[in-house]
Amino acid sequence: MLELNGIKKSFGPVEVLHGVDLTVRGGEVHALLGENGAGKSTLMKIVSGILQPTEGTIRVDGQERQFADYDEAIEAGIGIVFQEFSLIPYLNAVENMFLAREMKTRLGLLDTRAMRNRAQEILRRLDVSLPLDVPIGRLSVAEQQFVEIAKALSLEARILVLDEPTATLTPSEVEHLFKVMRELRKQGVAIVFISHHLEEIFEICDRITVLRDGNYVATCDVADTDTDRLVEMMVGRRIENSFPPKPAIAKSAPVVLDCEEVQLRKDGPLSSFQLRQGEILGFAGLVGSGRTETALAMLGAYPATRCKLRVNGTETRFRDPAEGLMQGIGLLPESRKEQGLITSFSILQNISINNYGKYRKGHWFIDLKAERAATQDAMKQVRVKAQGPDARLDTLSGGNQQKVVIARWLNHQTRVLIFDEPTRGIDVGAKAEIYALMREYTAQGHSIIMISSELPEVIGMSDRVCVFRSGGIVATVEGDHINSEEIMTHATTGRTRNVA
Ligand SMILES: Nc1ncnc2c1ncn2[C@@H]1O[C@H](COP(=O)(O)OP(=O)(O)OP(=O)(O)O)[C@@H](O)[C@H]1O
Ligand SMILES: [Mg+2]
Repeated sequence: MLELNGIKKSFGPVEVLHGVDLTVRGGEVHALLGENGAGKSTLMKIVSGILQPTEGTIRVDGQERQFADYDEAIEAGIGIVFQEFSLIPYLNAVENMFLAREMKTRLGLLDTRAMRNRAQEILRRLDVSLPLDVPIGRLSVAEQQFVEIAKALSLEARILVLDEPTATLTPSEVEHLFKVMRELRKQGVAIVFISHHLEEIFEICDRITVLRDGNYVATCDVADTDTDRLVEMMVGRRIENSFPPKPAIAKSAPVVLDCEEVQLRKDGPLSSFQLRQGEILGFAGLVGSGRTETALAMLGAYPATRCKLRVNGTETRFRDPAEGLMQGIGLLPESRKEQGLITSFSILQNISINNYGKYRKGHWFIDLKAERAATQDAMKQVRVKAQGPDARLDTLSGGNQQKVVIARWLNHQTRVLIFDEPTRGIDVGAKAEIYALMREYTAQGHSIIMISSELPEVIGMSDRVCVFRSGGIVATVEGDHINSEEIMTHATTGRTRNVA
C-alpha cells in the first residue's frame, strides 16, 4: 500500500536520512524502531508531505507520488498523529476534527449538526466515547489522542501513522488504543506505529523496520525476532543490565524533605513521607492516584487542603516552584511543553537558563567558554544527538529534547530533584545512561523523588517506594518488598489513611 525507496533527507548540509526503504501493507501494523534521533519522525513527516525528501520515491498503491504539503498526502489517504499533538486546546473535539475543512450546508453555513454526527460516527467506529462540547485542553491525553486518530479517519485515511502514541498513556488506555488499532487493521488500514516500548511492539505489530542513524537496518516479522535482537539492531551493540547497583543507605541518613501531612482534597486521605539524603524515593501508583499532585503540592503548585513540609528540619511553605528552586529543590514536570524549554533557543541557552550563577566571572560577566564547555559536557553525559550546543531545540528529535531537560537539571545546583516520568520517549540505550547519572547525583549526597508509571524503572531504581492510590500513599515499601506483585497489590487494593 505504501512503499518508500531510497529516501534521503538533508537539513542544510546535514544528511539525516541516508536512503531508507519501507514497505507497509494494508491490514498490518508496522513498527518503526530506532534510537532517539534515528530519523523515525522525519521519515513519517516525509510520508505525510510535511517535509520533502532530498532523494527517493514514495509510492501509494503502486503509483509514484510527491506531496507538496500535508493536504496532498491526506488526499492520497495518509493520516498522521504527531509525536507532539497539533490540536487546538480551546476548541472542542468536533471543531478540532474539522478544522480548516468544515462541512457546509447548501447555503454555505457551517453544518455543525453534520460535523457532529460524522464525529460521533467515527468515534463509534473506534468504540470511544468522549465529551464533544468541552475544550479539548480539558480532555485527558488519551482522549486527545483518540480525537487525533478520529481526525485522521475523518479524512478517510487508509494509511495511518502513529508517532509514539503510547508515550503518554496509562496501561489501560494503551489497551484501548490497541483495540482500536486491531479494529482498523481488520478494516484493512495500514498502520505505522512508533514506540520505544518493545513489549508493545510484540503485542500489537506484525512486522518491524529498524533504523539506525538515518540508515535502513532491516525489516522482519515480529514472530521471527526477540527483544535482544531488536535492541542489537537498533543500538548496534548489546545492552546489559540497565540499572546501576543500589547503594546501602543508612537508616540514620538525614531526612532532607519531611512531608508530614498532605491532603490533596477536602475529605481526601492524609499522606506522609520522608526523603532521605542520598536516596531515590519512587512514587508509584496508577495515573491519577495523586503522585504528581503530591509533589506539586509540596512546591506550592497544587492547591492542597493541607501540606506540612519540613526542609532539612525547618518548617517551610513554598508559594511556587521558583521558591523551591531557591532552596535547591528542582522539578521536572511530566509534560515536555511545561518544562520551560524554549524551542527557538539553542541547547546551550536552554541548559544555561536559571544557571548563570555558575559561570559568573566577576560581577558582570559570564564566562562564555565555561558555559560552552559545561554544555558540551552535559550533552555528552546524556548523549544528546545534535549538531552541537548551538543547535536550536526544535531541530532535535523528541527524545533528544527530553535529554536536554535532564541535562539541564543535572547541571543545575540542586540538592533534591523531583523527576516526573523522566524517561518518557527516551530510547533503551540512553535510558541506561540516565539511570547511571541519577545514581551519580545521589552519590554526591543529593536526593531524588522519581514519579514513574514504568514499573521496571520504579523497581530497578528506587531505594524505597511510596505507593499511591486514590489521592494518598497507601504503603511505603523497601528492600525485597520492592517487587511488581506487592506494588501492584497496594496500588489497586490498598487502603488510604483517612482523616478522623
Ligand atoms: N528541522 C530540522 N533541522 C535540522 N535537523 C533536524 C530537523 N528535524 C530533525 N532533525 C534531525 O534529524 C535527526 C532525526 O530526527 P527525528 O526526529 O526523525 O528522530 P526520531 O527517530 O523521531 O527520534 P525520537 O525517538 O527521539 O523521536 C535528528 O538528528 C534531528 O536532530
Ligand atoms: Mg520522533
